Amino acid sequence: MLQSIAIGFFGCAIAFAAGTTPVTFNKDVLPVLQKNCQTCHRPGQVAPMSFLTYQSTRAWAKAMKVAVASRKMPPWNADPHFGPYLNDRSLKQAEIDIISQWADNGAPEGDAKDAPPAATFAEGWMIQPDVVIDGPVTKVPAHPKNDVIEWSTVIIPTGFTKDTWVTSIQIKPEFPEVTHHICTGYVPHQAGVKYGLAVWLDRPRDEEGSAIPEKGATFATLPQEVNRMDADSAAVMRESGLPGGGAQDCYLPGNLAADYRPLNAAKLIRAGSDIVFVVHYTPNGTEFTDHAKIAFTVAKEPPQRRYVSLLISSPLDPKQFAIPPNDANWKAPPAEATFQQDAELVYMMPHMHVRGKDQTWTLEFPDGRKQVVLSVPRYDFNWQLGYESSIRVPKGTKLRVDAHFDNSPNNKFNPNPNKTVYYGQMTWEEMMSPFFGIVVKNDPSLRTEADERKLISTPIVIGRGGG
Ligand code: HEC
Repeated sequence: MLQSIAIGFFGCAIAFAAGTTPVTFNKDVLPVLQKNCQTCHRPGQVAPMSFLTYQSTRAWAKAMKVAVASRKMPPWNADPHFGPYLNDRSLKQAEIDIISQWADNGAPEGDAKDAPPAATFAEGWMIQPDVVIDGPVTKVPAHPKNDVIEWSTVIIPTGFTKDTWVTSIQIKPEFPEVTHHICTGYVPHQAGVKYGLAVWLDRPRDEEGSAIPEKGATFATLPQEVNRMDADSAAVMRESGLPGGGAQDCYLPGNLAADYRPLNAAKLIRAGSDIVFVVHYTPNGTEFTDHAKIAFTVAKEPPQRRYVSLLISSPLDPKQFAIPPNDANWKAPPAEATFQQDAELVYMMPHMHVRGKDQTWTLEFPDGRKQVVLSVPRYDFNWQLGYESSIRVPKGTKLRVDAHFDNSPNNKFNPNPNKTVYYGQMTWEEMMSPFFGIVVKNDPSLRTEADERKLISTPIVIGRGGG
């Protein structure tokens, strides 16, 4: 009885909604698109189609319904059972319903006078920078879409002659339409380093392109015909553990600046540091030469609170890290860290490659309580998403990151399910290296980068702080 009343009422509610207030583009859909989609879906941005106008959007109605109902769009992969995340851009159920009903009702335009004013988007600098530095210049060939250009690493001097506390950072490509992501890290200057040279790690490969782990690695430059790397600078690069230099801060579509001011914190970039850029472009059929820039706002005095970027990893050793062929759910050995000081966990970024399947971040507090702080059940390599949080982490807390990999043919990104896959920086190799940001009291004893790394203890140390 109760059940039938409920059903009757539900049916009524639907009829009412559909009958008197049909969902239209101008009144209902456009505000959702402005808030959640147009950052990427407008001319000159990374998404292939524009959702600015009814005319450009209409044909996509059905695809939009599928994309939002499956939560493929907007890109946001955190399980909503955990969180909250300060940069959460996932749609509310009501917003998904608006797009779905609109598509189901034949995507009506509605009355133009119901439309909100056009949204405005910050072009150029969002942070009003104190310092702007010229970054890498990258020629993106007119290759077809979906052609892969390897990520490459480029080193640029900061020009900082004294220790500098930065309070916000913006990395800005000139052509967002071909820029997949650009991440940066900051390293001490190495004598002999070649600035501006695009370098990538060239490993001996078997006939199918997988790295042969026993054979080590050499460095190559990209593109070969433009930049040749001499043996000396190659040796310097090898010694400094590059490429793989950094993902402390990233430009990603829709993620334009890292701002530590709301955290009342600043990050120290030491005098004479170099910036390691890792750049990844995706061609779209037209040739571009992108001039990336990086800019900072700078604190006049040392801050009360310090932002520190950290990186941990699963063991790299091929005996422990070897994903068997055709295994759809291989569990990697965990990445672990123990906090050596009270901290606030403010940023979490899973990082794996094309076989990465899921990742779960768990804190175990000193009192034994365990809390999942991030779960990404469907990891997507195409989006190097970071999740902003505000979690107090007392000294002695353990962080454990677990991950699974899918090396089966069901993984549509898998280039070859019949291979054993080892740890490595190329996309056809795998990584399991969670990045995170913490804020701690700014203690003057934290002088060197090694001091900063000692804020956590971790069994696996790879690269430099943050990359
Ligand atoms: C952070 C950038 C970004 C945001 C925000 C975003 N999109 Fe996308 N979208 C893309 C990119 C890039 C593609 C093309 C590549 C791909 O499919 O991943 C895309 C593809 C699509 C597609 C093509 C369908 C498909 O499955 O390939 C649809 C439909 C779509 N987006 C709808 C939306 C809607 C609706 C929103 C807002 C609710 C939205 N997107 C928000 C970047 C974004």
